Amino acid sequence: MAAASSRWQRMAAACFVLAALAMWRARGVRRALVSSWVVGRGCRRSMSNASSSSSSASDEFLAPHNQARSPVGLAPLRWSGDLAPPAARTTSQQQGGQGRRCGFADMSGSPYGANQGWASYPARPAEVVASWVAQGRYYAHANNSCAPGQQCGTYTQVVWRRTAEVGCAQATCTTGATLTICLYNPHGNVQGQSPY
Ligand SMILES: *[C@@H]1O[C@H](CO)[C@@H](O)[C@H](O)[C@H]1NC(C)=O
Ligand SMILES: *[C@@H]1O[C@H](CO)[C@@H](O)[C@H](O)[C@H]1NC(C)=O
Repeated sequence: MAAASSRWQRMAAACFVLAALAMWRARGVRRALVSSWVVGRGCRRSMSNASSSSSSASDEFLAPHNQARSPVGLAPLRWSGDLAPPAARTTSQQQGGQGRRCGFADMSGSPYGANQGWASYPARPAEVVASWVAQGRYYAHANNSCAPGQQCGTYTQVVWRRTAEVGCAQATCTTGATLTICLYNPHGNVQGQSPY
């Protein structure tokens, strides 16, 4: 159990480093969208004007999640009015101040699952969620594995059976980049378990 947990923490740390590296590489790309994921004690955090979801914004986040869950036989997620505010607080923290350029947030202390998406341009919420769901093409359900060199973590959080609710927020930096964060309860991506 302890070994599994430290393996998980190493994996989460590696995930953050990879995400940060991808973001750094994306600086020269005109339209880049980078994703990161974490479970309870896993990856990390970032920046801009946090808009916490009106009902139409919540639909924009929620609908693409449920469009991915339905084909694999999962119940739809509910929008959570308790998760959206902490997501907004985090995106807001990442938005302000010197050196905070809408980078990923450190979510390692969060009890919730967290998917993050950083885009170099003003990305729509549905587009960010679609980029998470798109990882599903690398995921093999038969053996619960991800294609070599690929990441499937944001997808497997979206289609985690036990996850019941989600709350999201997005912030936009002065550079035009956006940071999107969705929090999930209960969290998914439990090591050694299949999402569904
Ligand atoms: C952030 O958005 C709020 C609400 O739309 C607005 O009142 C506020 O001025 C914005 N802050 C910045 C820094 O753009
Ligand atoms: C899992 O299954 C996929 C699809 O059948 C296959 O391509 C992949 O090599 C398998 N991975 C492992 C680790 O067995």
